Amino acid sequence: MLISVFNAVLIVLVTWLAYRYFELRERTSPTEERYSQFVSGVASIVDRIEGYDAAHSLEVAQTAEKLALAAGLEGEQLQALKAAAMLHDVGETLLPREILRTAERLNDEQTYLMRTHPLLGELHLKSRMQTPDEVPAIIRWHHERWDGLGYPDNLKGEEIPKAARILAIADAISAMRHLRSYRPKQYKSQKDIDAEIERQAGLQFDPELAALWLKLSPAAGNN
Ligand SMILES: [Fe+2]
Ligand SMILES: [Fe+2]
Repeated sequence: MLISVFNAVLIVLVTWLAYRYFELRERTSPTEERYSQFVSGVASIVDRIEGYDAAHSLEVAQTAEKLALAAGLEGEQLQALKAAAMLHDVGETLLPREILRTAERLNDEQTYLMRTHPLLGELHLKSRMQTPDEVPAIIRWHHERWDGLGYPDNLKGEEIPKAARILAIADAISAMRHLRSYRPKQYKSQKDIDAEIERQAGLQFDPELAALWLKLSPAAGNN
């Protein structure tokens, strides 16, 4: 069964807590601050459930913002990307918990289920959270690849919105930096990670954005 009773209860609880949190802050904080606190609160729950050994969502958002600013994104586009980066894996909270916490490599069926998370995330945001329209769209396409071999829609090149192409690079960088319950840490240093980004330029990643990242990377002498 795609959604176990435990996961269903968890989803209701997360949504209710987020709603209560938003409601309680309403009288004391400006709207933008409340929105960003709400997004951060949900993202931290996603991080706990996903099984990374670090605050993956926040790290992805910080890297995505750095790359987006250098790529010329601004205003609402930039804000939508930041929110999408914080919430990009929210769909994983709807998957069976044993997939996220297994210590084994995922089998074919588990991989298939895992690959539904961009669509689940998009649907969850559209039906349960009030975010700008661009945010669920960016989440839907955060695992598309420049060469068209990604998922869920096999979009290719510039068919993929720029914000989703940026998010794909930021997500991969963070995933390579940290271990996850079913995947050991494969890269020892930022230099090794950047070599992989360079190798995947024009395949997995937008080549111009990959080249831009290589200039911005801490391994290139930046902070
Ligand atoms: Fe993802
Ligand atoms: Fe991720």
